Amino acid sequence: MKILALETSCDETAAAVLDGTRLRANVIASQDIHIVYGGVVPELASRAHMQKVSQVVRRALDEAGTTLAEIDAFAVTCGPGLAGSLLVGLSFAKGLALSQRKPLIGINHLEGHLFSATLEHPHLEPPFLALIVSGGHTLLVLVHDVARYEILGQTIDDAAGEAFDKVAKILGLPYPGGPSVQKAAEQGDPLAESFPVAKIKGRPYDFSFSGLKTAVLYRWRALAESAQEQSLADIAASFQHAVIQALVPKISRAVKKHGLGSVVIAGGVARNSALRAAVLEAGQRDGFEAYIPAGEFCTDNAAMIAQVAALRLARGEQSDFSLVARPQMDLAGERARK
Ligand code: KG4
Ligand code: ZN
Repeated sequence: MKILALETSCDETAAAVLDGTRLRANVIASQDIHIVYGGVVPELASRAHMQKVSQVVRRALDEAGTTLAEIDAFAVTCGPGLAGSLLVGLSFAKGLALSQRKPLIGINHLEGHLFSATLEHPHLEPPFLALIVSGGHTLLVLVHDVARYEILGQTIDDAAGEAFDKVAKILGLPYPGGPSVQKAAEQGDPLAESFPVAKIKGRPYDFSFSGLKTAVLYRWRALAESAQEQSLADIAASFQHAVIQALVPKISRAVKKHGLGSVVIAGGVARNSALRAAVLEAGQRDGFEAYIPAGEFCTDNAAMIAQVAALRLARGEQSDFSLVARPQMDLAGERARK
């Protein structure tokens, strides 16, 4: 079974070809146009998707050494994400499926992140605990099975990636914030500043990052003129440390409570090297196996969409052509299908 998947939910135009369990192509075209604005501009994102989608699909087919006619099913992210961006991928995938008379399947972007680690670890099967840490989401999920997800906790304000992006802006570091903060943090002392790690009463698995961001802002302002390069590095490192302290103990706690042996970390923030190291260390200490995808499978990609499509198609599922984009779609139950 050869699946061509498309992902255009935010600012990456991505296409992948999955052939059985082998990933034949994983093409990701990032959109540099947003850098000058310091964040994703939705109208520009959808326009860039329109300009790129056709060539990204062509490249994926070429890399996979296959043709459209040989594709058995077309998968596409139908939510959550930016409405205009989702529509580009959805319309394109519908056109391909219609013209080739092959099945179409809409996939939940978050479900893609949940299963992203199985691309490199095919033996990894539910049940497992998954932490999605991206620009739009921070979710701790108990994956009982495909389509059976229990959300243990989520952010009550900013997402973890959003906090990285906002702190980068405060410190005058370039967009996207995550990689810039990580780079600055490499020269800093994570214990130089003690930033708050939010605890939410009665909700042990929920997260909050907006107080942390404000604490960074006040500290940075207080330093004002006297700020040295070292203070910036120390603040970045201490902020990163606080984020890790907000995430990792909750993983260990959930693993113990639910008697799990495997933990997946997914989403753009899972690229963060300090977080990766902290999760691996917690795994050794608390007796769980940590599965953290390679960088290209952490940030948005179509390979993870193809992977979920394979699981869902194997269960006899597919979408019809009335499939719509669902910008607010969540993990709690509803399927991507119409
Ligand atoms: O999963 P993703 O590509 O897109 C969403 O679905 O949101 O995640 C993007 C987020 C951004 O907020 C970016 O700053 C963050 O992931 N990110 C990082 C790193 N690389 C990307 N955050 C921390 N450290 C990194 N190395
Ligand atoms: Zn994502």
